[in-house]
Amino acid sequence: MVKSLRNLIALVVFLTVAASATLFADEFSKKDVEKWNKEFMTVVNQGEKLFHSALGTNTVSCDMCHPNAANTHPETYPKFQKQIGKVVALRDMINWCIQNPLEGEPLKLDDPKMIALEAYITWERKGKPLEPGRH
Ligand code: HEC
Repeated sequence: MVKSLRNLIALVVFLTVAASATLFADEFSKKDVEKWNKEFMTVVNQGEKLFHSALGTNTVSCDMCHPNAANTHPETYPKFQKQIGKVVALRDMINWCIQNPLEGEPLKLDDPKMIALEAYITWERKGKPLEPGRH
């Protein structure tokens, strides 16, 4: 009797949790998706502008060596990078190029400019299969 009561309580708890999970399930409308895509593309476009700007102390910009984000290989990160000597993320190589070819100060990793550069670079390479670690 005690055991079946315990089972009943367990069932009630389970159903309550399941019901609230459904309540908070990720529901979104077509309008939401349109809004989110628009915001995403705004950030991609900011990244594209930055990619064509002199972000360092000289007049060099990313697109001079990576037209349309060529040879940035975002799909291969994280990976071992010989310039840095350890396994790094894409943003670490973005900063490496800002510090070296562009002779600038590295961006904070959560700087909106860093996020925009990442958004633009990965957008340009959209559809490539992920191959972390590849050289
Ligand atoms: C003067 C040329 C030059 C400029 C300008 C330049 N880069 Fe690079 N970039 C390089 C070289 C050289 C490498 C190293 C290639 C390697 O060994 O992976 C590299 C590597 C990278 C990588 C990693 C590529 C890979 O295959 O793993 C990324 C990402 C990158 N650059 C982004 C940028 C960004 C963002 C900017 C502008 C802030 C920029 N680069 C500006 C020359 C440049």
